[in-house]
Amino acid sequence: MKVVCVGAHIFDVLGRPVAEIPPGQGRLALEEIRVTAAGTAGGTAVDLAKLGAEVVSIGAIGDDTAGRVLRLLLAEHGVDERLAVKPGRATPSTILPIRPNGERPSLHASGAMDALTADDIDWQLVAEADVLHIGGPDALGDFAVAVLPKLLRFAREHGVVTTMDLLRSSVQPELVEALRPCWEHTQYLLPNDDQIRAITRTEDLRLAAEKMRAHGVGTVLVTRGGAGSLVVGEALAEEIPAFRIPVVDTTGCGDGYTAGFIVGLGHGWDLLSAARLGTAASALVAQGLGSDAGIVDLALTLRFWSERQAELGGSTPPESRLASDPAGLRRN
Ligand SMILES: Nc1ncnc2c1ncn2[C@@H]1O[C@H](COP(=O)(O)OP(=O)(O)O)[C@@H](O)[C@H]1O
Ligand SMILES: [Mg+2]
Repeated sequence: MKVVCVGAHIFDVLGRPVAEIPPGQGRLALEEIRVTAAGTAGGTAVDLAKLGAEVVSIGAIGDDTAGRVLRLLLAEHGVDERLAVKPGRATPSTILPIRPNGERPSLHASGAMDALTADDIDWQLVAEADVLHIGGPDALGDFAVAVLPKLLRFAREHGVVTTMDLLRSSVQPELVEALRPCWEHTQYLLPNDDQIRAITRTEDLRLAAEKMRAHGVGTVLVTRGGAGSLVVGEALAEEIPAFRIPVVDTTGCGDGYTAGFIVGLGHGWDLLSAARLGTAASALVAQGLGSDAGIVDLALTLRFWSERQAELGGSTPPESRLASDPAGLRRN
């Protein structure tokens, strides 16, 4: 299956464990430090490639070393990156001191993230894709308002499945209005619990998801960290528990979930099975440092799920239809 990811690509520098930043010019010895390709588009792209999808990734970076390393990281994972270099801007970057319990405070400079334009998109590639994934419309500035509605409509007109995730933890309710023309073309929205509560100003997650469906979104998959996820669609509201795992770092869990979900859809699976593959992929991500940690490939992700199916109420991976035949997906 072919997936085009559009949106946030971030150069992440992560270290662990950081119980607290030393005072003054104090020094703290860490067990490990890593750099990764992350962001709701870039991190998802890497996970998708690991799970066997053919991935093109589009976003905006700066003309700097971090940008060149980010491209290298994507290419090393087999992602066909088409990142647009914006002269005079910096590559979106984050420093993440990971706490001993896996929590991820972030120190972020968004740089060129909002500099993406319609000309940076290869529309023909989108037309030929099975899935268009939008990562972080809340961080894309004008692009989200001026281009995204057209891009999503264009994708749907070409039979391309559309998915979307949000980036910022501090997302505002105004986003619902700003992206109003996007919602009806968004088949699957995958926010986390904080994000959907914030944009809908609604505490109850099922109600919040129904509000987004009323705006035109097809199915809403709310991720809830260690509490799992909630899938709300047509005549459907189902909770999926998370696997009980030793957490190292939850950076990129949402991206892992999205990638697993998309690959499940690509195999022609039902919604809940696809969401369970997302759950398995994200559980692997949480067990290593960095958003690209944990997932090796599809076979090992399926094995992890199968071995621990009891934790998902005994649900097992369905028989795969032809993974490389996307016809079933495009008919959705
Ligand atoms: N502590 C955890 N233990 C097990 N699974 C987790 C944990 N944190 C996240 N996950 C898995 O990752 C998914 C996405 O994580 P979440 O933190 O909700 O997303 P985001 O990274 O977008 O904030 C969850 O639905 C869950 O399946
Ligand atoms: Mg997320």
